[in-house]
Amino acid sequence: MSGDRPQTSHSEHSDSQLAPLTPSLQNIIDQKSLQWVFVGGKGGVGKTTTSSSLAVQMAANRESVLLISTDPAHNLSDAFGQKFSKDPTLVQGFTNLYCMEIDPTSSIQEMMQGPDNEAMNSIMKDLAFSIPGVDEAMGFAEVMKLVKSMEYSVIIFDTAPTGHTLRFLSFPTVLEKALGKVSQLSGRFGPMMQQMSGMMGIGGSGEDVFGKLEEMRAVVNEVNKQFQDPDKTTFVCVCISEFLSLYETERLVQELTSGSIDTHNIVVNQLLFPPKDSNCEQCKVRHRMQQKYLEQIFDLYEDFHVTLLPLLTHEVRGVEKLKSFSRLLVEPFQRPE
Ligand SMILES: Nc1ncnc2c1ncn2[C@@H]1O[C@H](COP(=O)(O)OP(=O)(O)OP(=O)(O)O)[C@@H](O)[C@H]1O
Ligand SMILES: [Mg+2]
Repeated sequence: MSGDRPQTSHSEHSDSQLAPLTPSLQNIIDQKSLQWVFVGGKGGVGKTTTSSSLAVQMAANRESVLLISTDPAHNLSDAFGQKFSKDPTLVQGFTNLYCMEIDPTSSIQEMMQGPDNEAMNSIMKDLAFSIPGVDEAMGFAEVMKLVKSMEYSVIIFDTAPTGHTLRFLSFPTVLEKALGKVSQLSGRFGPMMQQMSGMMGIGGSGEDVFGKLEEMRAVVNEVNKQFQDPDKTTFVCVCISEFLSLYETERLVQELTSGSIDTHNIVVNQLLFPPKDSNCEQCKVRHRMQQKYLEQIFDLYEDFHVTLLPLLTHEVRGVEKLKSFSRLLVEPFQRPE
């Protein structure tokens, strides 16, 4: 399944043949240069639980941590039992952990709001936004610009399960297309439009729209450069020990590799470890199945830190439960034989 996936660029991999990598996310906490940590995987595997728990652990080791959900079906509020919004909000019980839930495509109109009675601006705006993905790219750029200016020590993303996880890599091209169209039109019709709108008593040259697009393009270029720097950014893949999830994880790892995004951590969640004398037939059967796929994961991801998380008998909701669950991310959990 792994194909010709090249080795990730993280330096510790050169030692991987000598000693097995620690089966925990401690390596992320220890890598102090990290500024951006993405947590991703398919629906329901435990992304929110993992990213929230990681944020809790990071908060104990960094000056300030921001956890962002880019999933429109926001669930950080559910996980922490506290209402969050599009502005960073301090999590109760912490002094340095903040959460925000954003919808990457909302608030664009607000952002591009220049005076709408400027004929040229409004035409330019329509034109720019006729290119698919421009709204999302602009929304993303705006959020990135904001969070960069706030200077958190580390920013953790709880990513959305659907669609193309690494969409942001295409945003520079999308915005370049929009800029091309806008400059083409303003070159051709700009003088005439200005004259006309002048005659009609309304101003505007389209330059506001051009300027905003250009500014956002610079922002996405700059953050993408950071996302592709393994010292600054890494991606944590969360999965469960089942065929489909393993398959999806490999696709994700391939996608990350081709997008030059570092990844060297896999979290396998919801594992069953029935006691030896258990008479739960179903648990034993599922456990055997999970062990089979775990073997494959260990074979396939020798150069990854593989963190195993047990399936608890209760949901992981609320600060206290997250705090105690988060210890499992850093205290090596040995595979029971
Ligand atoms: N190891 C675990 N033991 C018990 N419950 C868990 C475990 N991991 C996750 N859960 C619970 O399973 C549910 C789904 O987990 P979570 O919300 O973290 O998944 P997700 O990948 O973020 O889902 P979505 O794709 O819907 O965003 C939650 O109610 C969570 O509390
Ligand atoms: Mg989630």
